[in-house]
Amino acid sequence: MTGAPAIVLRDVGKVFVRDDGSAVSVLEHVTFDIAAGSFVCLVGRSGSGKSTILNMIAGLIEPSSGTIAFADGSVKRPRLDVGYMTQKETLLPWRDVLKNVAMPLEVRGVGQAQRETRARELIGLVGLAEAEKRYPRELSGGMSRRASLARMLASDPATLLLDEPFGALDAQLRGDLQLELLQLWEGSGKTIVFVTHDIDEALLLADRVIALQSGGRIAVDVELPPARPRSVRDVRFAPEFIALHERLLDALTTDPDAAARPISAGAP
Ligand SMILES: Nc1ncnc2c1ncn2[C@@H]1O[C@H](COP(=O)(O)OP(=O)(O)OP(=O)(O)O)[C@@H](O)[C@H]1O
Ligand SMILES: [Mg+2]
Repeated sequence: MTGAPAIVLRDVGKVFVRDDGSAVSVLEHVTFDIAAGSFVCLVGRSGSGKSTILNMIAGLIEPSSGTIAFADGSVKRPRLDVGYMTQKETLLPWRDVLKNVAMPLEVRGVGQAQRETRARELIGLVGLAEAEKRYPRELSGGMSRRASLARMLASDPATLLLDEPFGALDAQLRGDLQLELLQLWEGSGKTIVFVTHDIDEALLLADRVIALQSGGRIAVDVELPPARPRSVRDVRFAPEFIALHERLLDALTTDPDAAARPISAGAP
């Protein structure tokens, strides 16, 4: 399960300068490796820096200090082999679902018939077949998330970054899509970094769970029992999972410094 590192974060720090000129340090000395082919869940309280870490791995923003590298070199810009389902919706409002989902293939020069066939398969996979002609404004929150997931899968990325992908879905759909994602990943060699607030979801999906406290401090970094498939029952009631749940919950509820720390005052 664990191989050579696919992604290496070394001593990563991030300072944001707010519009009022004040600087705030949101991540300090974040160091961890993500093994190629592994499924890693990041959990952490709101504001602990999870999305910021994904944005940096995706090459959308740069670390203020330290380095983030893939096996073939450091991240300088977004990579075509990395799919990113961001926390905020980024569907293009002037394109219907089919054209949104087909977009990564269009960018790669895949012909219209071929890309629409593939896009339709993925739209079916996420349960949106009836909605392929709808525009983003005509979708519910959960439908938009599913369209975004299908769009990310269209590029068949080697690395998948998912930021709370299933948070807006009802329990049934969430369970269905969790299974689809696991099926797509198992045996594929793909590396997944998945952000969630839901400890049960992390325990159901991941090989390894990292719990972040404020400042990106790693409070827990734990490998899960390797046996799969896991059921929701296992994760809720098996003693080893109950113990893991408690450890993670403690880490998230005992954060000593839950607010981001200003490091300099803004200009008067
Ligand atoms: N562009 C920005 N400018 C200023 N501050 C920012 C910026 N982006 C993020 N922050 C701040 O950095 C901190 C971490 O934000 P981030 O979005 O990474 O948190 P998160 O762990 O993903 O939270 P959530 O669970 O709510 O999504 C927050 O305090 C946020 O206000
Ligand atoms: Mg976030």
